[in-house]
Amino acid sequence: MKIRNFCIIAHIDHGKSTLADRLLASTGAVTKREEREQTLDSMDLERERGITIKASSVSVIHHYAGEDYMLNFIDTPGHVDFHYEVSRALQACEGAILVVDSAQGVEAQTVANAYLAIESDLEMIPVINKIDLPGARPEEIALETEQVLGLPAEECIFTSAKTGAGIQELLDAICAKLPDPAPRKAGDEAPESDDQKTRALIFDAKYDDYRGVVVYFRLFGGKLKVGDKIRMMGTKRGFAVGELGKFKPKMTRQKEPMEAGEVGYMVASIKTLADVNIGDTITLDNDPAECALPGYQEPHPMVFCDFYPSGETQFDDLREAVTKLHINDASFTYQPTTSEALGSGFRCGFLGMLHMDIIQERLEREGNVSLVQTAPTVTYEIEQRDGVVFEITNPADLPDPSLIKEIREPMITAEIITPNKSIGDLMKLCDQRRGEYKKQQYLSETRQILDYELPLAETIYDFYDKLKSITSGYGTMDYQLNGFRRDNLVKMDILVNGTRVDALSVIVHRDKAEYRGRVLLKRLKQEIDRHLFEIPLQAAIGGKIIARETIKSVGKNVTAKCYGGDVTRKRKLLEKQKKGKERMKRVGTVDIPQEAFMAVLDTG
Ligand code: GTP
Repeated sequence: MKIRNFCIIAHIDHGKSTLADRLLASTGAVTKREEREQTLDSMDLERERGITIKASSVSVIHHYAGEDYMLNFIDTPGHVDFHYEVSRALQACEGAILVVDSAQGVEAQTVANAYLAIESDLEMIPVINKIDLPGARPEEIALETEQVLGLPAEECIFTSAKTGAGIQELLDAICAKLPDPAPRKAGDEAPESDDQKTRALIFDAKYDDYRGVVVYFRLFGGKLKVGDKIRMMGTKRGFAVGELGKFKPKMTRQKEPMEAGEVGYMVASIKTLADVNIGDTITLDNDPAECALPGYQEPHPMVFCDFYPSGETQFDDLREAVTKLHINDASFTYQPTTSEALGSGFRCGFLGMLHMDIIQERLEREGNVSLVQTAPTVTYEIEQRDGVVFEITNPADLPDPSLIKEIREPMITAEIITPNKSIGDLMKLCDQRRGEYKKQQYLSETRQILDYELPLAETIYDFYDKLKSITSGYGTMDYQLNGFRRDNLVKMDILVNGTRVDALSVIVHRDKAEYRGRVLLKRLKQEIDRHLFEIPLQAAIGGKIIARETIKSVGKNVTAKCYGGDVTRKRKLLEKQKKGKERMKRVGTVDIPQEAFMAVLDTG
């Protein structure tokens, strides 16, 4: 049987998952009865948020020109935090379907993902989707695709994943246009003899409560069958294949050996996801290949924050929840940490802010813990006067200022797609965020691509929201990390009632410190309840106070409001007050709520 391996790439919400579901339904892989919206987005959170977080792979059969074709396709996430998953999926394919919304047109992640596919030498089929929408402009968007990405407009296939229009044409084009599976991938330097050897690329892995780790692989050469002794070429670990199969889209066992070119899953008594390196090559223990397939780079965490137990939750509960989630999802990092103010907790690293929110939500939901989270920060590179260079992910870890030669911060290159009329305001925003203008490029009569270099720390929180509001929702952005750059950065400490609260320290630009300090203290004043005593709030650099506020004292007994006898009402009020305090930390004699730890993100 002929095989076609491809993935579906697109800007967020342009209809990848819906199109994938439609392909499943049209090839009969999912019967009407089983059809449930968004079959591939299986994680609860994905369904709720309507976004794809983990890539999934499925095998279906399509009949074309008198022959059966096995189509293996991989649905990929669109959000910028999960770019690394897209590049993984691309490595396992020869082709890509680039989905573009016929009302929205080319967006930042359309461009970014298309470039990833071009770099991986993939054949691309452009698809203009949602042609059923009243605002659809398929011909115009096809021209835009040609203009920006160089994909000929006449090769675009017009579809509606909703009504099914154009889907048969797309399935036929996949068979006709995408190449047969190749025995090796771009950049592979293995000797020719390796093409006959078993080499399978691990492009994903997930944890299953019953089977342990399920490894998703693409077989480039040789065969693989149940009982084979395998070796991971990178980690040098050995396993025995216990089960092999395909996703159709349910996990379906296969007794026959897996052949070169196929995509499938294997189960091999692997206990935790930490034992599997995505990008590693599987080979046979008794007839190994010489060279591994070129892997891809490990994803690097971009933002960090601490989680501390709060309310009834104890540190041990938190540790259990974090380690358990990590078995399921190895994409975040964690290590124990202690804070003078907050006690013992975990410092975690994430791929981006959305990823951070998802992990926090899953910890609370699946791990059943109550958390206090500190404000996210980025990695800083510190060079000391004695020449020692190291990285910190927590402002509290900064050495004494007298020892520091310079502080360097991570930079990004941002490509922003925007309507012409918003360009002035966007440039103003980028300037405020210490951005450096790079270039401007024409996209269509009404839109442009704007390139800026910006400090990552200035963009992680509200930059994207501001961009959206300036452009009335039409602006989109993509970014890549672009090394470290020195700047005049200092640590600002916050003192609550005279005590320095390490979890509130931030690294800020010297010129902005006073302003940021004032904004921060104002926010803290709003978030921290009045106590029986007066609470001074101060922002300091080194020993020097640069801003101050005071929270006035008040006797706060909520039950005083209930006149006498009504016991149930009294109890209810006390109950309510207790609940509000669950996500609260006592620092010295002051109760600081969760929201206060996020106050540093308020940029004014
Ligand atoms: P992520 O997985 O988050 O990256 O998004 P996605 O690209 O997979 O988009 P998804 O399939 O979730 O679709 C986004 C929205 O567009 C959903 O509300 C779909 O119902 C809708 N949609 C998708 N395809 C079509 C289409 O052909 N026509 C119309 N009218 N709506 C569509």
